Amino acid sequence: MTTNPPSSHTDDLVAVTGATGKTGRRVLAQLAARGTAARPLSRRSSTPFDLEDETTWADALRGATSLYLVVPFPLADPVGTFGRLATRAAELGVRRQVLLSARGIGQPGMELFTAIESAVTEVGTATTRLRPTWFAQNFTEDVFEPAIRRGVLRLPAGDLRDPFIDAGDIAEVAAATLTSDAFEGQAIELSGPRVLSFRDAATIIAASGGVPVTYEEVDADIYRRELIADGYREEDAEVILGVLDLLRDGRSAHLASGVQDVLGRPPRDFAAYVTDAAATGAWRRSAAA
Ligand SMILES: NC(=O)c1ccc[n+]([C@@H]2O[C@H](COP(=O)([O-])OP(=O)(O)OC[C@H]3O[C@@H](n4cnc5c(N)ncnc54)[C@H](OP(=O)(O)O)[C@@H]3O)[C@@H](O)[C@H]2O)c1
Repeated sequence: MTTNPPSSHTDDLVAVTGATGKTGRRVLAQLAARGTAARPLSRRSSTPFDLEDETTWADALRGATSLYLVVPFPLADPVGTFGRLATRAAELGVRRQVLLSARGIGQPGMELFTAIESAVTEVGTATTRLRPTWFAQNFTEDVFEPAIRRGVLRLPAGDLRDPFIDAGDIAEVAAATLTSDAFEGQAIELSGPRVLSFRDAATIIAASGGVPVTYEEVDADIYRRELIADGYREEDAEVILGVLDLLRDGRSAHLASGVQDVLGRPPRDFAAYVTDAAATGAWRRSAAA
């Protein structure tokens, strides 16, 4: 398998959407470390880019050779938007597109991402789809973070177990695929190295993260109320509950080889992520905020 393929074009300019998000920030750091020129794109970037405003697209994409695509939610028309964006990028000379997708493409409940993948690949540019499991960073930068701060992770998770992946690994794979022709047309399944329950995750955070946290199984109504109290809109809470419901039969409890295949090394363990997060004061800093 390929190991860290070098950039095959010295004139690469990688446009990175979702540039302020969990993976985009890390993709930019990976590209900088490789010496590859990159253009951050989001509604807050110096080159303004709004998926909901097509008049911003041409300036954002012009001159780019590769494009990292992140699908934020909510969007009015995600499938149409990403089909049109991929088409516009190809017209403007982007020759490689890497889409951050998700695990479970083609399965019931995954119709939206399945359709987005199709809309992007149908454009005909060299496309790579990255299909990760849940991100470890959901515990520090996203939905589970407030619960960790409170000291009790309450979820209607059932038998859900998942090999949480470090967003840094996704970013390193993305950087490799954005700068090489070797992965064109591929759908790369990505996971961490170990299947964990949420109870396991809480135990690891308590042991290695320096914060006392336990796991408690609750029903969907209690979790919905908790999400809304944490500031989520009702429709966003329903999306999160929908994902938990989809996976609570344990269907995600298996590993994928993408990180090893692309990078030639195993993915980072959840405990290493927790140790690093604790070292940077992630949960402590949030508690003080
Ligand atoms: N979290 C998980 O466990 C997980 C697992 C598998 C797949 N995924 C998928 O990963 C994707 C999210 O990736 P991520 O976590 O790296 O991103 P993220 O942290 O959710 O950040 C979203 C990014 O999108 C930008 N954005 C939002 N609305 C925008 C708009 N209208 N126009 C342009 N940019 C916009 C935001 O920047 P501004 O606010 O600056 O515009 C931000 O940079 C989702 O599609 C999700 O389904 C997530």
